[in-house]
Amino acid sequence: MGNVIIVGTQWGDEGKGKIVDYLTEKADVVARYQGGHNAGHTVVIGKEQFILHLIPSGILHKDKLCLIGNGVVIAPDALIEEIDGLLDIGLEVGDNLKISKNAHVIMPYHIALDNQKEAAKGKKKIGTTGRGIGPAYVDKMARAGIKMVDLLWPDVFREKLESNLGEINTIMTKLYNAPVFEINELFDKCMEYKERLSDFIDDTDIIINDRLKRGDNILFEGAQGTLLDIDHGTYPYVTSSNATAGGAMTGMGVGPTMIDSVLGIAKAYTTRVGGGPFPSELNDETGEKIREKGGEYGATTGRPRRCGWLDLVVLRHSVRINGLTGLVITKLDVLDGFDKLMVCTGYKYGDTVLNDFPKELSILDSCTPVLEEFNGWSEKTKGVKSFKELPENAKLYVGMIEERLDVPIHIISTGQDRDDTIIVKDVF
Ligand code: IMP
Repeated sequence: MGNVIIVGTQWGDEGKGKIVDYLTEKADVVARYQGGHNAGHTVVIGKEQFILHLIPSGILHKDKLCLIGNGVVIAPDALIEEIDGLLDIGLEVGDNLKISKNAHVIMPYHIALDNQKEAAKGKKKIGTTGRGIGPAYVDKMARAGIKMVDLLWPDVFREKLESNLGEINTIMTKLYNAPVFEINELFDKCMEYKERLSDFIDDTDIIINDRLKRGDNILFEGAQGTLLDIDHGTYPYVTSSNATAGGAMTGMGVGPTMIDSVLGIAKAYTTRVGGGPFPSELNDETGEKIREKGGEYGATTGRPRRCGWLDLVVLRHSVRINGLTGLVITKLDVLDGFDKLMVCTGYKYGDTVLNDFPKELSILDSCTPVLEEFNGWSEKTKGVKSFKELPENAKLYVGMIEERLDVPIHIISTGQDRDDTIIVKDVF
């Protein structure tokens, strides 16, 4: 099979969870490399629906090793809740889950800071998930973070906590007029978390490299999407990690020479949740129709997602930044019944047309999409399992994406269920 990175090519929520779940059949290891419980991967198997936030969706399969890498930030209570939820429905969560010693911990004060900072931003707020993701990564970069391994060493942990709380509590009281954090309470809580999680904490860099050497097939599971990447997204309206393919290397501790392919997941249209630029956004009843048909509400926060036409400028950027070797088109069935479909092929900025995604927010804000019209289809694609059964216009739509991006399409998803999947070309 080989080692494959799965990345989101848009603003997240492309349906990576379903595709990772589907490809896990052929994988030995599934490794999550960045983000935290801001992500929400929905997987539907028969009548059951699972929403996973931190644990790779590989956990739903027997005998697959799931790794949470050093690039992930972990809220221990959220992780424990997720583990318990899986145990409750009879799934195995034991030696099949390992968490990096170097993954950073999201502490309760990170969540408080996230919410205070957002509230202070007023109209300019990012629209974060309020999970403490940004402040946890800030502490990591500021070298003030607490790592999962620190939980195993209570003295080290307490010392770090003490040193951090001095500054945090000053910020809480002086800047935000908010309650302070009490050291003993936090310490005791974290020691409870340690009791539950210590068996999972391990050297995931060593484990994954041993598995690579052994010739195992590894799926690297990204969260969010390319346009939410801290370096390559619509900064500052982004998340605080590298959601792009490069993040898989640093976020797991593997070298780029180990990767065989990079598969980009793209919705047949575009969505984003939270603030920030979105040139092909539809603020009308068509956007509303896509939202309702596509069930476009956040898996983590339940917020309505902003919806718009497929944007080829965004996708060209993603192909480039991630070095995509293949594409997966998801939610094609949501476009069933549209008479006409528009596709954004460029951005009109003054008298010029931009073909590449601009870096300046000011330019993005004043761009209007250049739209090209395509014929829709009235037939159902929902549940279609082979390419030849797709309506002619759906084939043309998918073919157009492949041709314009010059990247082969490997999979088309035609519904939420595992089986609603068309394999166009073998991924491995
Ligand atoms: P944060 O990751 O909570 O800091 O939020 C930063 C931005 O990323 C906000 O616009 C969020 O809505 C967005 N975001 C974070 N995680 C996801 C996700 O899994 N899907 C879509 N958007 C996300």
